[in-house]
Amino acid sequence: MRIYRFVNPALWLLLTLATGTAYAGEHVYTATDPAWKTECGSCHVAYPPQLLPAASWRKLMTGLNNHFGTDASLDAKTAESIARFLETNSSTKRKYANDSALRITESRWFRKEHDEVPARTWKNPTIKSAANCTACHTRAEQGDYSERTLRVPR
Ligand code: HEC
Ligand code: HEC
Repeated sequence: MRIYRFVNPALWLLLTLATGTAYAGEHVYTATDPAWKTECGSCHVAYPPQLLPAASWRKLMTGLNNHFGTDASLDAKTAESIARFLETNSSTKRKYANDSALRITESRWFRKEHDEVPARTWKNPTIKSAANCTACHTRAEQGDYSERTLRVPR
C-alpha cells in the first residue's frame, strides 16, 4: 500500500473506487459455528445468519420437525446453541426485515437483489430452487456472496 502515499489524492480516490468493491468485505459473511455448519449445512448451504432477522430464526428453530416439508429435528441442546448463534448474528438492518417470512428467498431485499435474473434462468435444472445459492454464488459455502464469485448458469 506504500506506493499510494506518492500518488496525488485524486488518483488515490480513483484507485480506491476501482478496487474498493472487491475489498469492501460486503456480502461476505464470516460468522461461523461448528454445530450450525454441520447441522444446517447438510441438506443445503448453511445460510448466513445475517440474512434474516432474529424473529425469523426463532420461529424457524422452533419448527424443525416440519422444516419446509422435511424433518430437520435436533436434540434440544444443539437446537438451543444453534438458535443462540443465529440470533446473535442475525440482522438488525431494516433492509433485511422479513415480516413473518422464514424464507430468505421470499424477502423483499432478496427479490430486489435478484430481479435481474431472468425467469428462464430460475428454471434451469442445475439451479432447481432459488434456495440453492451455491448454483450461482460459487463460494457460498465460505459465506461469500460477493459479485466477484458470482457465476450465473445460462
Ligand atoms: C433434512 C434436511 C435439512 C436440514 C438438516 C436443514 N434444512 Fe433447511 N431446508 C431444507 C429444505 C428441503 C428446504 C427447502 C429448500 C427449497 O425450497 O429449495 C430448506 C430451507 C431452508 C431455509 C429457507 C431457504 C429460502 O428459501 O430462503 C432456511 C432459512 C433454512 N432451511 C434454514 C435451516 C437451518 C437454520 C437449519 C439447521 C438448524 C436447516 N435449515 C437444516 C432441508 C433441511
Ligand atoms: C440464479 C442465480 C442465483 C441464485 C440461485 C442466488 N443468487 Fe444471489 N445473486 C445473483 C445475482 C445475479 C445477484 C446480483 C449481483 C449484483 O447485481 O451485484 C445476486 C446478489 C446477491 C447478493 C448481493 C450481493 C452483491 O454483491 O450485491 C446476496 C447477499 C445474495 N445474492 C444472496 C443469495 C442467497 C443467500 C441465495 C440463496 C438463498 C442466493 N443469493 C441465490 C444470483 C443468484
